Amino acid sequence: MAKRIVIDPVTRIEGHAKISVFLDDEGNVSDAEFHVVEFRGFEKFCEGRSYAEMPGITPRICGICPVSHLLASAKAGDALMAVDIPVGADKLRRLMNLGQIIQSHALSFFHLSSPDFLLGWDTEVAKRNVFGLISANPDLARAGIRLRQFGQEIIEILGDRKIHPAWAVPGGVRSALSKTGRQRIKEWIPEAYKTTKLALDLFKSTLKTHGREVQVFGNFQSLFMGLVTEDGSWEHHGGLLRFTDSSGSVIADQLDPQNFSEFIGESVQSSSYLKSPYYKPMGFPDGMYRVGPLARLNVCERMGVPQADAELKYFKKLGRGAVTSSFLYHYARLIEILASIELVEQYMDDPDLMTDHLRAEAGINKLKGVGVSEAPRGTLFHLYEVDRNGLIQKVNLIVATGQNNLAMNRTVAQIAKHYVKGEKIQEPMLNRVEAGIRCYDPCLSCSTHALGKMPMAVSLVAPDGRVLNEVTRDG
Ligand code: MG
Ligand code: NI
Repeated sequence: MAKRIVIDPVTRIEGHAKISVFLDDEGNVSDAEFHVVEFRGFEKFCEGRSYAEMPGITPRICGICPVSHLLASAKAGDALMAVDIPVGADKLRRLMNLGQIIQSHALSFFHLSSPDFLLGWDTEVAKRNVFGLISANPDLARAGIRLRQFGQEIIEILGDRKIHPAWAVPGGVRSALSKTGRQRIKEWIPEAYKTTKLALDLFKSTLKTHGREVQVFGNFQSLFMGLVTEDGSWEHHGGLLRFTDSSGSVIADQLDPQNFSEFIGESVQSSSYLKSPYYKPMGFPDGMYRVGPLARLNVCERMGVPQADAELKYFKKLGRGAVTSSFLYHYARLIEILASIELVEQYMDDPDLMTDHLRAEAGINKLKGVGVSEAPRGTLFHLYEVDRNGLIQKVNLIVATGQNNLAMNRTVAQIAKHYVKGEKIQEPMLNRVEAGIRCYDPCLSCSTHALGKMPMAVSLVAPDGRVLNEVTRDG
């Protein structure tokens, strides 16, 4: 008789969700599901609004990723106007995206995930969190908090507000980098490098003792997708899309995000309201792909900045072909922080960021436009269809957590197979399932397109649907 395990909530992820682990007749794990209830309300809510309002509205989808939605939304507006934005505006948007990558990755690594691998998997739950980290390693915890603050300050300096900065607009941005703002950013840079290198050394030293986690935390074949430049370098805001497979081969390259529906399908599964995007030519579920830091480092050939490139060489050696373990999302995240700091530093001497020519003016020239940006968690798509007056007829948002949904399910199943014994949910398994999900740093606010948090539960379920064991925790 098959059975099911349900875990609720998965703590220390952005939002809440629910996990079910299915057992077969022999009591072995057969499958797992990470359920998210998607409220499509937000896409509907935008209908009838002007496209020009969208960069002010869509950041409200999520308190964690407002900047990512802002930038994708402004880009979708550029596409509707059919304009090339001024070079200064593009660089300023990029600078804000780098700030977002730094702050979000620092939060994920230091606050949410490092307690697992630095404090030990079997440390009691009450201590295995950022407070436990602060008492065990106060210097590291403080450095992590400050690194996040650096990223937030970049956003604040440009947008004037930390949350919902409606600063990027269709056609460009509202304001340049000021001299005092530039000075403030510059002062942070040495400390940011120091903290990132400390974290990189620490993570690489934990790799020696985490061979099992590298093996079972989502280590499987899949496709990977991300933006790359024309020459195949790492890209975060601009460029074109590339898919690679687990052997590291490029299977599709320089795909224009404007036509994403030609190569990305969205499968609706009965068990979850969260759609599962897949690479269309391979069908569902064979076309499963991962996005985010691990995917971006797999699809690119180089970071394009020296220090991160040296790390990328080391990273690439961890896989034969592609790096296929989702445990290494953590490592990829740190390399992206390093690359972001290097790019921020380059921008400090760039006069384009201080110019007045920041906005292209135009009306509606196309009735359909797509904005794409690499959010910290993965590629973010905003598709808008408008009428001649620029009023929204249809919105489709495709977020990172949705694209990683299938991979998260497989990760949970893989971990559960190693740790579920019998019909009881044991704490070590629970810790590891949660940590497996956290590799992806999912944002459930984004993937549900809802405001606020969702309840989340893990259940152990029999083939007849009976819940044998259920665990819930406060988020
Ligand atoms: Mg959608
Ligand atoms: Ni979000």
